[in-house]
Amino acid sequence: MSEIHVLDHPLIADKLTRMRRKDTSSQDFRSLLHEISLLMGYEVTRDFETTTTTVETPICMGEFPVLKETFFTIVPILRAGIGMVDGLLELMPSAHVGHIGLYRDESTHQAIEYYYKMPNGVERSTIIVVDPMLATGGSAADAIEDLKKHGCSNIRLMNLLAAPEGVKAVQERHPDVDIYVAAIDEHLNKEAYIVPGLGDAGDRLFGTK
Ligand code: PRP
Ligand code: URA
Repeated sequence: MSEIHVLDHPLIADKLTRMRRKDTSSQDFRSLLHEISLLMGYEVTRDFETTTTTVETPICMGEFPVLKETFFTIVPILRAGIGMVDGLLELMPSAHVGHIGLYRDESTHQAIEYYYKMPNGVERSTIIVVDPMLATGGSAADAIEDLKKHGCSNIRLMNLLAAPEGVKAVQERHPDVDIYVAAIDEHLNKEAYIVPGLGDAGDRLFGTK
């Protein structure tokens, strides 16, 4: 069964509260999402394996840890996932970036795909799918399914905010995918928005409403 990791940290919690405020500007919203992504990245990568290499320090020779695998792919779900990419790239500057474009139909809340572009060899990489919101879970679960259809298997999911319904949906469809979130809110409203949530992440990030 997939594990759900709630990254309960005072710095993350404080920044998330600022993002929730309806009068937070797009500029501040973007900065806060960037900062939280960087902080979350620390935990999302915690189980990355290391091996050792020989290094000559100015004092002596020694064996020191280095990442065992260095082919990582960050996959933002467009649009709002873009806001989580740069924080992770600061931690993993050599990571590749693939994009999946999905939007939710306003009445059915089903995810509709309009774009899919991955780096060559993505199926051999460790993949972190990023999207601030996990509401019904349809977008994330469809994105992961698409990656699997293209041969990918080593996938983890990083969201800022989740609804219990979204966590359950992803876990049911992808029991092999661990989920990392900053918080799990109460429920979805009838428009399938997270309550209390922070509103429409894409619109707030890009100032489109
Ligand atoms: C938002 C969000 C997720 C999706 C979550 O995107 O960024 O991708 O909704 O909802 P779900 O879990 O119910 O699928 P949206 O569809 O609004 O597109 P946008 O990022 O282009 O605004
Ligand atoms: N998408 C968002 O941006 N916000 C929600 O609360 C639900 C889906």
